[in-house]
Amino acid sequence: MSNPIVLETRKLTRTFGERVPVHALKGVDLQVAAGEILAIIGPSGSGKSTLLNLIGALDTPTSGEVIIDGTPLAQVRNIDRFRGKTIGFVFQSHNLLPTLTAAENVEVPMYEQPMRGRARRARAVELLTLVGLGNRADHLPSQMSGGERQRVAIARALANEPAIVLADEPTGNLDTVNTAEIMALFSRLNQERGLTLVLVTHNTEVAAAAQRVITIRDGMIERDVTMQSEIERELLLFKSSVLGQAILRGESLPTELAAAAPALQALLEQV
Ligand SMILES: Nc1ncnc2c1ncn2[C@@H]1O[C@H](COP(=O)(O)OP(=O)(O)O)[C@@H](O)[C@H]1O
Ligand SMILES: [Mg+2]
Repeated sequence: MSNPIVLETRKLTRTFGERVPVHALKGVDLQVAAGEILAIIGPSGSGKSTLLNLIGALDTPTSGEVIIDGTPLAQVRNIDRFRGKTIGFVFQSHNLLPTLTAAENVEVPMYEQPMRGRARRARAVELLTLVGLGNRADHLPSQMSGGERQRVAIARALANEPAIVLADEPTGNLDTVNTAEIMALFSRLNQERGLTLVLVTHNTEVAAAAQRVITIRDGMIERDVTMQSEIERELLLFKSSVLGQAILRGESLPTELAAAAPALQALLEQV
């Protein structure tokens, strides 16, 4: 038996502007099962964030629908309340409140629920322990590293046991080591707690942690792959296209590639 669908989009479109309309999404049909880690990749401007914002009810579609945990968002009366209970967000910048401690930041979404202060605090500490920060509960964001702050943001995203966690470039501001740690944490939460995660990234190492990779181009799903071999091929394709563009634009390349760039450029210009 496959897991139930927790997220579905039907013919989802989003157009920005009226005089010069930008068709950011052009009819996206997507189904995500509970317990899935789905990575969304694609060129800059292809509509990834637009899609995530619509799924997270931070934006409203031009047409089509989003259904979360069986509920069409268009039918939800109090969307802020629904979002707070059902969806956890992790952004590129952690967005922690600087004057609150780690535990207090994790408690913020819990105010949506009838919960006593002591229970809130206990749950915050439990979640911080889960992300490896049990001993940092009373520290301020300014007293923590970038990777630690992002782990606090993940604990906060889990505060109300959401059906789904959405992350837009969650490792975008982190170095390689912290990126790997955050992805290891997401994988562990997925295995131990059945976390459902939809993640936008341009980092192929990050996408490699997913069980499914969707490539978006020009506001449409171009490919949707789930087999390990297909995922590896998809990520290689994406890397080569990013690399090819960098060479053609004359951007700086990692030293190990710089020597090969002229030969690659000559080849690319023949294609
Ligand atoms: N609020 C907005 N107003 C106008 N255009 C927007 C807005 N948000 C996104 N766009 C446009 O929609 C397209 C998709 O953007 P986005 O979803 O942010 O892409 P990605 O996250 O893949 O880089 C881009 O052409 C972008 O300029
Ligand atoms: Mg984006």
